[in-house]
Amino acid sequence: MNPARDALLLAARNRWLSEHLPRYRFVRATVARFMPGERMEDGLDAAARLAEDGIPATFTFLGEGVRSAADAEEVAQHYRRLLDLIGERGLDAEISVKPTHLGLDQDPEATLQRLRDLAKRSAVLGKHLFLDMEAAPYVEPTLAIYRQLRQEFENTGVCIQAYLHRTPQDVADLLGAGGSIRLVKGAYREPRQVAIHDHRRIRASFEKLAFEFLRWGKGGRLALASHDVDLLTEIERRAAAAGFGRDSFEIQMLYGIRVADQRRLAREGYRIRVLISYGTHWFPWFMRRMAEHPGRNIWLAIRNLLARR
Ligand code: FDA
Repeated sequence: MNPARDALLLAARNRWLSEHLPRYRFVRATVARFMPGERMEDGLDAAARLAEDGIPATFTFLGEGVRSAADAEEVAQHYRRLLDLIGERGLDAEISVKPTHLGLDQDPEATLQRLRDLAKRSAVLGKHLFLDMEAAPYVEPTLAIYRQLRQEFENTGVCIQAYLHRTPQDVADLLGAGGSIRLVKGAYREPRQVAIHDHRRIRASFEKLAFEFLRWGKGGRLALASHDVDLLTEIERRAAAAGFGRDSFEIQMLYGIRVADQRRLAREGYRIRVLISYGTHWFPWFMRRMAEHPGRNIWLAIRNLLARR
């Protein structure tokens, strides 16, 4: 484990820091690299700009671990309004939600109900609904919810983290049930008993899981969500050799990261989609982004701090 990554991921869960750090202008300037703004309208405008380059979007309204059913209901209402606007503006966009943002800690059944409603509204628009994957204790409840949702709604998918030791079995189970997956390396601070820490082994796991899905995926969507262009190129090369064309998977990246590659991939005819996050509760998510590339991102924060003196 990289010590800077470890420290940033620890800080992501610190309540005092989450209340105080966002007040500093240099922190706000740094988060601007990863999100277009705090309002829904900022996200929609960013999606319209991406559409000019032929890039569709996924939206996530930032937040996690709500503390009451009323808060979870407010989040669901926000997503309903967002889906309405996606429809009205004819945007090529879908949503991806965190189960704990929709009340998983309080009431899994009510969370499933809210997800059913969002899946139904997404289906009317011809869109998918994706579930994000959070820290390891939430994997089992999230997959349990996804299995139920998937029985009723084909237009649903779930994020799968390649760093977890349990993931190959989870993917084997999901393949039996059909469904769509967004494959990621994994963004949380997990102990060694739970997750692989070695970067090369995580990449190897990602590649292996991608091929499991390509071979046995029963027509569901496979999204390779990564900015690791070398890894994506290698997967594409091996996929082509095995007879899978570029259209058998899509590539997903985050807003603001590897933007030139996003545009290039779109121009070259890859199926690429960009996930846009927005909202006021950005602190833990922002710290996870910082932790993914600590050297460059800490340097960016320092430059923003110095620029404001
Ligand atoms: P890697 O970390 O190896 O980065 C490759 C290169 O990309 C770096 O060298 C750098 O140039 C650039 N880069 C990557 N991240 C950067 C950053 N933050 N800042 C600056 N440069 C960066 N995780 C999770 O646990 N649950 C989830 O639901 C999701 N959802 C999700 C959706 C989408 C669309 C993406 C792209 C990613 C996620 N993730 C996620 C995050 C994922 O688990 C992982 O932490 C990041 O994608 C970083 O890993 P990469 O595969 O991009 O490669």
